[in-house]
Amino acid sequence: MVRPKTAQDLGMLKAQRPQVWLTAYDFIQAQLAEAASMDAILVGDSLGMTMLGYSNTLAVTTDDMVYHARVVRRGAPQTVMVVDLPFLTYRSPEIALTNAGRLMQEASADAVKLEGGRRVAECVQRLVSEGIPVVGHLGLTPQSVHIMGGYRVQAKTEEAIVQILDDAQSLVQAGITALVLEGIPDRVAELITERIAVPSIGIGAGQATDGQVLVFHDCLGLSERTPKFVTPFAQGRQVLGQGLEQYREAVLNGTFPDSDHAYHIADKEWARFQSRCPLSDTMSQEVKRD
Ligand code: KIV
Repeated sequence: MVRPKTAQDLGMLKAQRPQVWLTAYDFIQAQLAEAASMDAILVGDSLGMTMLGYSNTLAVTTDDMVYHARVVRRGAPQTVMVVDLPFLTYRSPEIALTNAGRLMQEASADAVKLEGGRRVAECVQRLVSEGIPVVGHLGLTPQSVHIMGGYRVQAKTEEAIVQILDDAQSLVQAGITALVLEGIPDRVAELITERIAVPSIGIGAGQATDGQVLVFHDCLGLSERTPKFVTPFAQGRQVLGQGLEQYREAVLNGTFPDSDHAYHIADKEWARFQSRCPLSDTMSQEVKRD
């Protein structure tokens, strides 16, 4: 199976097979994603919620993204890594270039992702002209949570469908490498997928996109709440919780650690030590001192 090595390789998969993306934010998640042969890892600004405990993505900074992306890169050196530009970090082409440049230079990103349609096309053009591959993101765009009035499915009216098709075309013309479609009706996602030359990567966008992306924690059942569009592929929260309960129980009832999980000293060496410094003497001296 063809394994993409660069962001541009993701494009050639469009006509070949579905592509599978996963978010990752730390070393072990990155290792797991690479070991599972993900086509791309997205270091999403969803890390604001999954890793930093914020209630939305707005407080995430470029420094946060650089930090997490560097860690992910160490865990997944062979996988295409796309890194989000956070809220307000691409409000002009020059600001976008400064921030995207940091993700490329300091974290070795293969591409950056930004949210929005026609309004960000100029930023996309500027980044691409400087050699930075860009992934677009349309539909439910979490950085606009306050404008959307919450995390709601988008493109549900005739006008909104016309708008999203226009946005998709603008982004493609500006030079995007792939397009994430989040939280839109399946038929709308299918239409966009047919009309654009770059791969569409869906999340809550039905079956017809060229690939899927999931948040690591949703994929493995680690999230407290699972969105409607997710099928967890493991019961992570339950399994980890049970493991921790068993650990606590084992320490309390004395079954952990057992002798097999302890380090041992040779009898001969222990006897030599005792003959020089008998344990009972040492202890009784300590008791007397107390
Ligand atoms: O930040 C993120 O993880 C994302 C995905 C949900 C697509 O943008």
